[in-house]
Amino acid sequence: MTSKTGRWALAVVAAAGLTWLAPGGAAEENPAAPKDPELDRKRTEVRMLDDIYKSGIVTITEHYVNDEDMIPAGTAFKKMFEAAEKKGWHRVRLIDASGEPYSDENVAEDAFEKDAVKRLVKGEPWVEAVEVRDGTRHLRVATPIPVVFEKCIMCHDNYEEVPKGQAIGALTYLVPIDGPLVTKRSKAGK
Ligand code: HEC
Repeated sequence: MTSKTGRWALAVVAAAGLTWLAPGGAAEENPAAPKDPELDRKRTEVRMLDDIYKSGIVTITEHYVNDEDMIPAGTAFKKMFEAAEKKGWHRVRLIDASGEPYSDENVAEDAFEKDAVKRLVKGEPWVEAVEVRDGTRHLRVATPIPVVFEKCIMCHDNYEEVPKGQAIGALTYLVPIDGPLVTKRSKAGK
């Protein structure tokens, strides 16, 4: 016999179970968590940017980069990221997760990126944090870059040793949520 209270308790347990099992974005699934539509919109924006930038890098490598001396898509996209940052849209970084970067500029530079790289290498598909900089909330996200095809190894020979599908790099995003883009950390920041 199941009492009304009993059924209610079961429903709560089931809902809590779902929350705990939800991969990534668990807070979104938690009915007790405050709704944050602005943050959700920014997550969607980053998902879109990530798809566009990654398919751009792959398409250019596939069709235009044919030997080791050619300008790699990574270099071209870094110029594009710089232009987007100057316009105040967002900050994007292309960084290494293999331990052997082609350029020392392209390494995790703060606590968020260092922790994100470790988690992406272990297989997490998305690492995020919300940070306040000069009174503006910013969404930070890191997404993995696997070895997409043989051509990548032409220049990055260390990728050959990496298990298939494991992240060798990451794109990291800093997107303002409710104010202007602030690339420098606030004093309180880590
Ligand atoms: C033509 C040679 C070349 C090819 C092909 C190439 N890369 Fe690169 N890659 C570079 C160079 C050079 C840099 C440093 C770019 C810079 O900082 O301007 C770089 C940077 C990177 C970085 C940032 C970390 C680092 O090592 O500096 C990642 C991640 C990366 N490449 C992944 C890839 C992937 C994935 C592919 C295949 C889709 C690929 N690369 C194909 C030459 C290449």
